[in-house]
Amino acid sequence: MAEQFDVKLVEEAKYYTPLPEYREKAWVKDYDEEYSEFLKDPEAFWGKIAKELDWFGPWDKVLDWKYPYAKWFVNGKLNITYNCLDRHVFNHRRNKVAIIWRGENGEERIFTYQMLYRQVNRFANGLKRLGIVKGDRVCIYMPMIPEQLIAMLACARIGAVHSVVFGGFGVTALNYRINDTESKVVITADIGFRRGKTIPLKTLVEEAIINAPSVERVVVLRRKEPKVEIHSGIEIDFYDLMEGVEPVCKPEVMDAEDPLFILYTSGSTGAPKGVIHTCGGYMVGTYYTSKVIFDLKEEDVYWCTADVGWVTGHSYLLYGPLAVGATIFFGEAVPDYPDAGNFWRLIQDMGITIFYTAPTAIRMFMKVGEQWPDKYDLSSLRILGSVGEPLNPEAFEWYYRVIGKDRCPIVDTWWQTETGMQMITTFVGEKMRPGFAGKGIPGVIPDVVDKHGKPVKTGTLGFLIIKNPWPAMFRTIYKNDERYRKYWETIPNVYTVGDLAVKGKDGYIMILGRADDIIIVAGHNIGTAEVESALVSHQSVAEAAVIGKPDALKGNLIKAFVILKLGEKPSDKHKLDLKYHVRMTLGPIAQPDDIEFVDKLPKTRSGKIMRRVLKAKELGIDPGDISTLED
Ligand code: WT7
Repeated sequence: MAEQFDVKLVEEAKYYTPLPEYREKAWVKDYDEEYSEFLKDPEAFWGKIAKELDWFGPWDKVLDWKYPYAKWFVNGKLNITYNCLDRHVFNHRRNKVAIIWRGENGEERIFTYQMLYRQVNRFANGLKRLGIVKGDRVCIYMPMIPEQLIAMLACARIGAVHSVVFGGFGVTALNYRINDTESKVVITADIGFRRGKTIPLKTLVEEAIINAPSVERVVVLRRKEPKVEIHSGIEIDFYDLMEGVEPVCKPEVMDAEDPLFILYTSGSTGAPKGVIHTCGGYMVGTYYTSKVIFDLKEEDVYWCTADVGWVTGHSYLLYGPLAVGATIFFGEAVPDYPDAGNFWRLIQDMGITIFYTAPTAIRMFMKVGEQWPDKYDLSSLRILGSVGEPLNPEAFEWYYRVIGKDRCPIVDTWWQTETGMQMITTFVGEKMRPGFAGKGIPGVIPDVVDKHGKPVKTGTLGFLIIKNPWPAMFRTIYKNDERYRKYWETIPNVYTVGDLAVKGKDGYIMILGRADDIIIVAGHNIGTAEVESALVSHQSVAEAAVIGKPDALKGNLIKAFVILKLGEKPSDKHKLDLKYHVRMTLGPIAQPDDIEFVDKLPKTRSGKIMRRVLKAKELGIDPGDISTLED
């Protein structure tokens, strides 16, 4: 990634200052003051925030840190859904709108907190009826519809651990996640919609559970009319499950350290990593950041465009904003369908005040032009957010000017599936610096270091690390604790993020991208090894190596170098077959954009493919230049 490092940008120090009213009205008026309060006494800082929420039983200790293992709110008892639902239903937010949903065909549905509460309670009792108990894993493979959120909350209500699988994943990816978690139940829908196309989710589930011995039942939400057939015995209708159950399901009393969910993220080996998040710390971390980073107020209408299948959907579409008691908008909306004005039309129609999206979408909008947003009234917007990959200065400036009309602060939030919550950004009252995400939020101490952990000089490329534990941190990798420890042991005593970064003299951090074999394509995290093993699983492939190729729109494209088996002749037909094969195995997001057939791949003496050499060659640069950070 070093090739993207722009020294000029680090020296230039161009800032944007938000209007004073943002600071005056913000939950946190002074970042520096809040940060020093944290530094003075981290445990008191987080304890105070946690007390804004409802607990069934108090904690003995805010933090028990035995490197690299943390326990937060030790022995504290809670249920996150009590904080996302009951807490609001039994006070002034009973009839406040919790969710505004819009389907691709224009259908709209609204749930007040009371209505959402009712649905979640019934579905939770339905799950219990299927024999699901605390600690059981439940796989959720659904489109972006209210029932998806209801299913997640219902799991959390009874203490079942949800494993949400992105609706764009293919059969193999789904099967892996069902088996790894040993999910007893899979919750799905007959179909999803995306860009006018129908995705046959139920059919994919039928295939994915063929070799999945743990699955006892499949719950199917039926959207299509006439309704698709349900195979009695194994399948059950989503709403039938809610028939005849008790209307209220007492929230399971969860220990702060009980697992809340498992979410898979790409690793640098072939197997995706099941990231484990727990109840107490995750709730406190996502609550605090939702409240203060987005400065969420009672009257806001908040829209996070991320898919619920990614961590952003978990933390900032669902749990964080609902814990705050916000009104959220979400739907099956995509940026460019039915036309490139879709997002702006929705902002206008729904009166969105806070808008959280990804740089790849912003760059797409830049490309299609200002005439699209200019057709709509965007004056309801108050705060803009970005997440998923570096927000390059050009995209920042466009977002600020064309969407924010030079008045909305942009929070460029850096974080990861593993961190669970936002970690680096600027507060709405603080000055912004295009190209730089900002500083560690209060509660987080980041730095940029060399491979020995020594801080690098400002303006110099290094590894991003976090020096302290934080409440929403992941607790382990499911069934692979060694992999968890590796994050903390790569550089002793600190959390190694896996990103390259630069710190400016002002302390602002610019994140340049991954330092490892993960490619971020249009904001989706894809492991080179996963794509390689999908390619190699095709009968005509002997070996494969995959790299990310910088792209102005998607951030990166996937390029694959493939050695065919003896006797196979490279052809365009092979290229199409292989693309299709990866698409079916992993899903459309992992499909290579470009395939090149080669006879040899560069390897180390131990046989490890040197992707960096391939990448350097592809970009026409000296491989020496980009290997400076390696051993
Ligand atoms: C990786 C984590 C966090 C939710 C979505 C992605 C990149 C994320 C930013 C940002 C620069 C960013 C990093 C990180 N990333 N946000 N604001 N600026 N890079 O979660 O799939 O776990 O990916 O996304 O490379 O390590 P994820």
